Amino acid sequence: MDLVIRHGTLVTASDTVTADLGIRAGKIAQVGGALPKAKRELDAAGMLVMPGAIDVHTHMEMPFMGTSTADDFLTGTRAAAAGGVTCLIDFAIQPPQTSLLKTLEIWKQKAEGKATIDYSFHLALTHWDDTIPQQVKTLIELGFPSLKVFMAYKGALMLEDAGLLQLLQTSRELGALVMVHAENGDAIFTLQQQALARNETSPRYHALTRPRIAEGEATARAIALAEIAGAPLYVVHVSCQEAMDAIAAARRRKVPIYGESCPQYLGAISVDNYERPDFEGAKFVCSPPLREPDQAKQLWSGLAGNLLQVVSSDHCPFRMEQKRAGFNDFTLIPNGVPGIETLVPLVWTLGVEAGHISSNRFVDLISTRPARLFGLAPRKGSLTVGADADIMIFDPQREVTLHHTGLHQNLDYTPYEGFRVTGYPATTLSRGDIVWHEGEITAAAGRGELVQRKSFSGD
Ligand code: URP
Ligand code: ZN
Ligand code: ZN
Repeated sequence: MDLVIRHGTLVTASDTVTADLGIRAGKIAQVGGALPKAKRELDAAGMLVMPGAIDVHTHMEMPFMGTSTADDFLTGTRAAAAGGVTCLIDFAIQPPQTSLLKTLEIWKQKAEGKATIDYSFHLALTHWDDTIPQQVKTLIELGFPSLKVFMAYKGALMLEDAGLLQLLQTSRELGALVMVHAENGDAIFTLQQQALARNETSPRYHALTRPRIAEGEATARAIALAEIAGAPLYVVHVSCQEAMDAIAAARRRKVPIYGESCPQYLGAISVDNYERPDFEGAKFVCSPPLREPDQAKQLWSGLAGNLLQVVSSDHCPFRMEQKRAGFNDFTLIPNGVPGIETLVPLVWTLGVEAGHISSNRFVDLISTRPARLFGLAPRKGSLTVGADADIMIFDPQREVTLHHTGLHQNLDYTPYEGFRVTGYPATTLSRGDIVWHEGEITAAAGRGELVQRKSFSGD
């Protein structure tokens, strides 16, 4: 063996056992039983050994709202490694007059030579044309079987329902999974214009012009279109009861609808932060917006009860000087919060420590289920022999107060400043290589590989 992890408690989506784990040539080679001394050994006594997190919702070096996200594939994946994330799927967003295949090439260039962990892309469609079905077919053949549509961001990324429906029909035929950002873009645009006309310009109006019902309506509409097409659908960043109600009703009808939430909606921060003075509320501007504290409780109930299947970060970082573009007009504040490095400790603290979910459900939500839904299993998302040795050794006792200075994201703040987490990744392995250990990132730029994914085949 190249590396053996000894005395750890192995936690998977289904089991918890105390066993040693051996790694050879980047793969998990043996779980349990007698393992001879290896070239390198890690003592995981008192630690949990889990599959690394798979973050299926990130925005690295993404042009958006007149600027570009502050992490590229180097800084973003270094932060990921430090946070126990061993694979990510980033959104490659189609610029105007650009084909999906060309968009893929643009995003491949961004990642190549930089990524420190494995990665893939979802292609995000911003217009529909008759060449899309053939392009989707090629994308699936190339190992990119998921596509995204924004129902919000009118005048920029938003796609009309006709485009969404045709994409769903195409995906049903070809075996792709369509993802939606579900908020009613027309309603939000109208509310924003009305607010600005009343001279309501501060960050608090971001939330007031994106009401929960705008998310609930769009979620129900996207589900209706998926049902018309007979296609599965994945709803990203679910933030409220109204959206969950639509998903629950569909799942009761046995419609294959899947949902994701993100740590920013799960209890550490809430809508109240938009009231902070001195434009500090801008740090929390993301879409959907932060909601009332009671919504987090509902989301945890959805995550525990399998109404929602995934927690991802929606890592979309902007520095304060970028946020200041919206100082006089909240609609110009770049939408997005950082989160790839804090995903694991926050979900553990808010979910497992708080008693909402078990450690096994935690693994399912952050690794096993996203691997299955997005065609990474059985290569990733489990601790089975033959799988990539993408592993997080997690110290459930370690208490950390989050400060941006202690994080590796390319940012001058974290929305979780001062929040205390219990449980933190001690060591991260990517294909058997130690990429984070004892507070040091040890991953070389460019070692991350582009992973070919399988077509959608359920969860
Ligand atoms: O505010 C957010 N979530 N920004 C990133 C783009 C998106 O909507 O996912
Ligand atoms: Zn979105
Ligand atoms: Zn996003």
